[in-house]
Amino acid sequence: MDTIKGLQEEIRKLKKEKDVCILAHAYQSQDILEIADYVGDSYGLSVKAADAAQRTMLMCGVRFMAETVKILSPHKTVLLSHAMAGCPMAEQFSVDDIRALKEQYPGYAVAAYINTTAELKTVCDVCVTSSSAVKIIRSLENKQVLFIPDCSLGAWVAAQVPEKEIQLVQGGCPVHRNITAADVKAMRNIHPGAKLLVHPECLPEVAKQADYVGSTTGIMDYVKESEAVEFLIGTENSIVQHLQFAYKKKRFYPLSAACICSDMRLTTLVDVYDCINGTGGEQIVLPDAVMDQARGCIQKMMELERK
Ligand code: 13P
Ligand code: SF4
Repeated sequence: MDTIKGLQEEIRKLKKEKDVCILAHAYQSQDILEIADYVGDSYGLSVKAADAAQRTMLMCGVRFMAETVKILSPHKTVLLSHAMAGCPMAEQFSVDDIRALKEQYPGYAVAAYINTTAELKTVCDVCVTSSSAVKIIRSLENKQVLFIPDCSLGAWVAAQVPEKEIQLVQGGCPVHRNITAADVKAMRNIHPGAKLLVHPECLPEVAKQADYVGSTTGIMDYVKESEAVEFLIGTENSIVQHLQFAYKKKRFYPLSAACICSDMRLTTLVDVYDCINGTGGEQIVLPDAVMDQARGCIQKMMELERK
């Protein structure tokens, strides 16, 4: 048995013995996706976090995702596969920033992308993910919405929900912002017939040109349903690899070599083994008061999404 398969076998054995559910974001590497109980986008991971039967949850992704699991399942042990895997966007606003913004924009609902810290969620009204954002913002009672932190996702939502007044402030994903309109032009010249599929974290000038804008899972589902054979992909380049691996008769091209999230790529299969074995990773611990206050905006997202 080769090393990877041997390690995967060991992890499968340990997760059964220790009653562990492994959740993996779609940006994780193929060897990790193969040992996960569930693979998905941020919304799908949140739903699984609330539903899974196991006592321990191991998140292969970044910190805000593990915090979301802990908030939704406070009595479970929640592990993050790599202690240093954070999302830079999650740290772009502080609680004090939001308090100041609320004074500046009284009466606005504060909608927080789920890519925010647990602490920040305590002062927000509702969460959104890339796949749920349009529906959630549309179904809010408030006409005025302060959308933080991702201005690209916010602009994309605003274009589809014109009946709301959406106030953007600052912030965004440093990885997806690396894709430029010039990249789109250059890649379209090389692959003129290819469909352009992008994540809403991409800059508006990129998203405006796309055949489809959606979450990581949304992009993968689009490919599954599509009869096209060539695709330009505007999201973390791991998705290009996963799609190419899954659909051998189709061709997938990244829009930019710079769309690589170093945080999402920190976790290796060895880290997952160490984490489940108790010799690596980090157990997520959050104050009860933070979890109680942060839970409301995640649950509100789920309620509105299920309507
Ligand atoms: P998804 O909700 O599409 O999984 O996006 C999460 C993320 O961090 C993308 O960069
Ligand atoms: Fe955060 Fe962007 Fe990395 Fe997603 S790709 S985890 S939004 S830095």
